[in-house]
Amino acid sequence: MDVIVDLQYGDCGKGKVAHYLSHKNSYTHVLRYNGGANAGHTIFHNGKKFVTHQIPAGVFFGVRSVIGNGCVVDPEQFFKELQMLEDGGIDTTGKIFVAENAHIITSAHKEEDKKVGAAIGTTGRGNGPAYREKYGRTGVRAETIPELKPYLIDLYEEWFETTGDKHILAEGAQGFGLDIDWGDYPFVTSSHCTAAGALLNGLPANAIRDVWGVAKIYETYVGSKEFQPAGEVFNKIGDIGEEFGSTTGRRRQTNWMNMQTLERAIRMNGVTHIVFSKTDVLREVSAWAVIDDTKVIEFKSEKAMQEFVSERLKSLDIKKANIFFSDSKETI
Ligand code: IMP
Ligand code: MG
Repeated sequence: MDVIVDLQYGDCGKGKVAHYLSHKNSYTHVLRYNGGANAGHTIFHNGKKFVTHQIPAGVFFGVRSVIGNGCVVDPEQFFKELQMLEDGGIDTTGKIFVAENAHIITSAHKEEDKKVGAAIGTTGRGNGPAYREKYGRTGVRAETIPELKPYLIDLYEEWFETTGDKHILAEGAQGFGLDIDWGDYPFVTSSHCTAAGALLNGLPANAIRDVWGVAKIYETYVGSKEFQPAGEVFNKIGDIGEEFGSTTGRRRQTNWMNMQTLERAIRMNGVTHIVFSKTDVLREVSAWAVIDDTKVIEFKSEKAMQEFVSERLKSLDIKKANIFFSDSKETI
């Protein structure tokens, strides 16, 4: 299994890496392993734009696409997405599966989240209340929803009792800074966003091969904590980078990339490969900087910043050949 994780606050471009890896390697499965309809993945496929919330990107590549038990599922949203994919010409027949022990997001969860979740700026998609009921043992599992029946699978059977080798691409949602344990609590989501979260979907610890970390060359965060420092440059970065949430349309706050957040995320996820996305945005504003030990370090050029970052990654045992800097429109 290869795992894709976001090293910051979501929206770093996991979809792009999923697209790249699925062409490079042949996977039998794509597994979405955490979160619910709070995520928003923008995918360009055959010249068409799709925004998915729960269904993993594997469906675009024709492989078995699994919503794992680490996720919470909103059936209403699930069927809407299926329709959207079919309307866009994607054949989903026999390709999309939901773990029978995944929990369900109900309309009551969504209602509650829209009211109570406002304090931390949730997406209002019912994520927190659904996970609360899961852990309170009052939740509803996918296996009890008749409409979901055609999509249900037992992940033990899927991983261990069917013939043939399994090559899984595990796709995390949200990011390290939003992780329930390691993010900036309480401004977090309610699920496990690290590579460890992938294992919680019935997979053994030694299943992990490569861990692809994705980070933006600057940071963005959407939610109610104060994040963006004063300075016109941050608004410029947000405008040029088109930093608006794909689920809620909210403007994302921006800041320089924080080296300590990055280091923590790399270590805890066991990152072996790393992709920095949207480098063209800083090029357009002609500003190159990071935050290191709470201080802003500015660089004279893109190259100087890349050298600084690569040197730091070397000390974390990430090989130079496994570090990629990529532009918004560019494939890696
Ligand atoms: P919730 O996941 O809807 O409960 O929201 C908790 C926090 O995570 C809020 O700050 C959301 O904006 C943020 N969040 C949730 N999903 C995403 C995502 O896919 N991308 C970026 N931020 C997210
Ligand atoms: Mg997103």
